[in-house]
Amino acid sequence: MLSTNKLKKIKSNFPVLVGDNVVSKNICNLLVKEISNSKAFDDMIMGGRSRINKGSKNFNLYIKNSVNSAKLFKLFNSKSFYKKIDKLFTKNFKDGSWINLYKPEFFNPKKFTIKKKLNSSELKKILGNNYTNPKVNLDIDFSVSKGGYRLRPHRDDITRLFNFLIYLTDIPKKNGGSLTIYKKKTKKNIRKSFRRFPKMDELEIIKSFTPKKGTMVLFQSTPNSYHGVNRFIEKKCPKRFFIYGSYALNKPVIWKYKDATYYPHIIYSKSKMLTSFHDVNYLTSKPGH
Ligand SMILES: [Fe+2]
Repeated sequence: MLSTNKLKKIKSNFPVLVGDNVVSKNICNLLVKEISNSKAFDDMIMGGRSRINKGSKNFNLYIKNSVNSAKLFKLFNSKSFYKKIDKLFTKNFKDGSWINLYKPEFFNPKKFTIKKKLNSSELKKILGNNYTNPKVNLDIDFSVSKGGYRLRPHRDDITRLFNFLIYLTDIPKKNGGSLTIYKKKTKKNIRKSFRRFPKMDELEIIKSFTPKKGTMVLFQSTPNSYHGVNRFIEKKCPKRFFIYGSYALNKPVIWKYKDATYYPHIIYSKSKMLTSFHDVNYLTSKPGH
């Protein structure tokens, strides 16, 4: 169902693999039909993205009624596929690349990242300060975006190892909705801190991917893996159907790049937000030091 042999590395400052026709056009069309036929979505975010999220009742119902989505979900939701992806990165990005310091041994197919609003101290409590022996799980959603959808440049949750996207419709370049990856402009302190939401003028565009039916983009969720989506204009084009997934740990990922080890520092906030809204800085010092 997935031609992972088509995934090739691109030139970037963090590990990214991209492949066209990783999912066949025919299967893409069937997946679009399944998402279109879904009677309910779990939430709407970022100005127009409707999601069906792993873990919801709705998701279970969707999977029950959608043969192709179920097959794909089963494939991704396994230790063997997680291992396959991990190996792809090790093979393509050898010495001197980013590594996660504590490797998960246990894959939990039932677990998913809870979408719950928390303040920073509640988030710290949930994530803990022991980073050893992590467990890994798949998070996935089947999504459709209408016009207006956009994502400002950011890095994903600190529990994530890998993120992937599969595009199910062709979007002309002029309609936007492209995934853009960024690089932090070179400054002396570049290797010292990686904020979650850098300012636009701190960033430089590396590459943009126009959504193309069957294309998969897969990247390591390293401290500097900045990405975003420019505004999608829905005009004489299909809606932006896609699958978004990640392999996440049940605790924060500690990243290593050459001799430097990066630890996440959660920024204080008393307001309750989804984990994806919390600001976190990756620094070479341990929290509390
Ligand atoms: Fe993201």
